[in-house]
Amino acid sequence: MVDSLLRWRPEFPILETCTYLVSHSLGAMPRRTAAYLQEYADTWTRRGVRAWHEGWWEMGRTTGDLLAPVLGVRRGTISMHQNVTVAMGIIASCFTFDGPRRRIVMTDHEFPSNMYLFEGFRRYGAEVVYVPSPDTVRTDLQRLLDAIDERTLLVPLSYVLFRSGYIQNARAVIEKAHQVGAHVILDVYQAAGAVPLDIEDMAADFAVGGSVKWLCGGPGAGYLYVRPDVAIRLTPGFIGWAAHSTPFAFETGPAALAAPPERFQSGTPNIPALYAARAGYEIIREIGVEAIRVRSLRLTRLLIDRAQAAGFRLNTPLDDSQRAGAVVIDVPDGEAVSQQLILQGVIVDYRPGAGIRIAPHFYNTEQEIDRAMNIMVEITSSRGGNLEKTAPK
Ligand SMILES: Cc1ncc(COP(=O)(O)O)c(C=O)c1O
Repeated sequence: MVDSLLRWRPEFPILETCTYLVSHSLGAMPRRTAAYLQEYADTWTRRGVRAWHEGWWEMGRTTGDLLAPVLGVRRGTISMHQNVTVAMGIIASCFTFDGPRRRIVMTDHEFPSNMYLFEGFRRYGAEVVYVPSPDTVRTDLQRLLDAIDERTLLVPLSYVLFRSGYIQNARAVIEKAHQVGAHVILDVYQAAGAVPLDIEDMAADFAVGGSVKWLCGGPGAGYLYVRPDVAIRLTPGFIGWAAHSTPFAFETGPAALAAPPERFQSGTPNIPALYAARAGYEIIREIGVEAIRVRSLRLTRLLIDRAQAAGFRLNTPLDDSQRAGAVVIDVPDGEAVSQQLILQGVIVDYRPGAGIRIAPHFYNTEQEIDRAMNIMVEITSSRGGNLEKTAPK
């Protein structure tokens, strides 16, 4: 099976030029993406405005349908947006914040833009509650569950934490939220394409994410899933003409909303980004996320073993069932060390308060992990070898 995944390597040209271990940030571009972008340019060149009625206008839906099995949702439930922030904004615009149920409850490990967005909704009456976490790796599930009550309207919840790769117990949070009448917005950005998802079975009210990372789909293709029974009850306030049931009638005044998922759209779809996203979705579907997960756990385990042998502190769960696709290694002067790694062709990134994030995907090899760790040991030793001998978490 390993060999069958490695046969994909020639499809990702960047792998020939460096040790690419940063798929939690920007997945490698498939060759096929260049062909699809060329198709976009050719279509615009040859068909001009007719392209809208020859597939472009429906491209949000067709792209969402291509992604649906990766997320574990049915076709016709996903709308496409520029990014997660916009998708979250559209969700927030479905609600009012002036009644007794106006709390947004989230942990302090959510992605910052989720916080910034809802902080902005304080002006409409929203009350934002942050549940503190015990450390940089995990959240406190019980504290989060206790914070969700009849005053809670929305719970934005990262299925996988961006800082540590920790997989949260989303089912428990969704169950508690539903017991008290709250809605969960599951952010699957750091999971989609790396960790098998069955969002429909989890009964999340909403799910959001983007294509930049494990889906290898590039920027500009964010997605919004709304559970069908929830979707038909909601009237988003942040909409545009693409959300209208007859957009080309150009009716004035209030919108006669389209059925879901189009009713959650704003304006003109981001066509080039949708062309770009297609190749990654196709490849991830063809391989299957289950197979990717098996490979990913093997490579992250190898990284952990090597880091432990070197005495590095790990800011990532060691337990396979709690760890997604990235491993975070916290060494002194981590930012400078990550820059040196990049200079030597090992592409990783650094996050303050976490450490150096290293993320193998299905196209990486054991040899690349060894190379990255050998260089990291060399760099840290040459910087004084002052490694923290703290027990890994
Ligand atoms: C969990 C999570 N949510 C959201 C985002 C970013 O959202 P946006 O698409 O608005 O840039 C990231 C990006 O790193 C992320 O890791």
